Amino acid sequence: MKRILTGIQPTGVLHLGNYFGAMRPAIALQEEGEAFYFIADYHALTTVQDPARLREYSRGVALDFLACGLDPARVCFFLQSDVPQVTELAWVLSTVTPMGLLERAHSYKDKVAHGVTASHGLFAYPVLMAADILLYDSDVVPVGKDQKQHLEITRDLAVKFNEIYGETFKMPAPRIQETTAVVPGLDGQKMSKSYGNTIEIFAEEKTMRKKIMGLVTDSTPVESPKDPADSTILALYRLVASPEDTARMEDEFRTGGVGYGDFKQRLFGALWEYFAPMRARRAEILAEKSYLDDVLAHGARQARASASHVMGRVRKAVGFKASI
Ligand code: ADP
Ligand code: TRP
Repeated sequence: MKRILTGIQPTGVLHLGNYFGAMRPAIALQEEGEAFYFIADYHALTTVQDPARLREYSRGVALDFLACGLDPARVCFFLQSDVPQVTELAWVLSTVTPMGLLERAHSYKDKVAHGVTASHGLFAYPVLMAADILLYDSDVVPVGKDQKQHLEITRDLAVKFNEIYGETFKMPAPRIQETTAVVPGLDGQKMSKSYGNTIEIFAEEKTMRKKIMGLVTDSTPVESPKDPADSTILALYRLVASPEDTARMEDEFRTGGVGYGDFKQRLFGALWEYFAPMRARRAEILAEKSYLDDVLAHGARQARASASHVMGRVRKAVGFKASI
């Protein structure tokens, strides 16, 4: 059975871009093999250095994934920091990591250019990510385009280690989700928490309605035809409405006679309805006091067992005792 592994950083509250770009495809993949999904909280320390916020985001992301259909009976779902062996592996890998490889990593340069402090952790981020992947003998790693280079670094490090110490790591293959369209935010740019243009998937009704009503539009009058091609309202509506309802809205754009306010009301209704079952599930999970902790504790036990296995191979390969 293929092992599918992916991580998500708990750096904020999940929004529609995260849902359609990352959560929905990851949740769909749980049917395809043995999935290992984790909350990358060690990685998040490179940008979130407030313990209360880190805890809140980690639990929030875990809760939202479960609410959106992640099935803990199929998926080993855990917090990265519950399996500290990953940091041991990151160290070992760092000793075979050429500096030049990290110096070429564009995510480091991008983050520094966006004001993130240039720490050793941020620089070594791809090594920890390689450790995440190699520690669980992963076959397939579904990620967005921005993570492609990190997967290449992972494969380079696995080859390098295997060359020096003999066959130890399984070679993971990336699964780049190129097909997912970029979800636009309130201002029409890519939805991103760094642009402050997000719609959170589990926002309160009032907040969500207010955000939708505030979507930026042009000033075409009610009676005039409107361009369906680059409308943010339609781009979001397509994600959540039926094909018939979408076709109807597109027609009304072209014919004119309906104002943006009406379209926005309809978009809000469709969004609210789309996430209704997930909101209900979320409320159920929250009502079951220890459910979230139990799921994560169970996932951590499973992940640790798998990690010990691979770490045994690594420790032996480099000349340590296989276990301590
Ligand atoms: P943000 O841009 O809000 O900081 P992240 O970079 O944490 O979001 O993204 C986490 C995941 O969600 C990534 O896999 C990314 O590809 C996906 N994602 C984020 N925003 C969008 C978007 N607007 N459209 C499609 N996918 C997105
Ligand atoms: N770097 C990934 C991101 O920002 C998150 C991540 C950490 C990850 N470790 C991973 C993804 C291992 C896939 C596999 O989206």
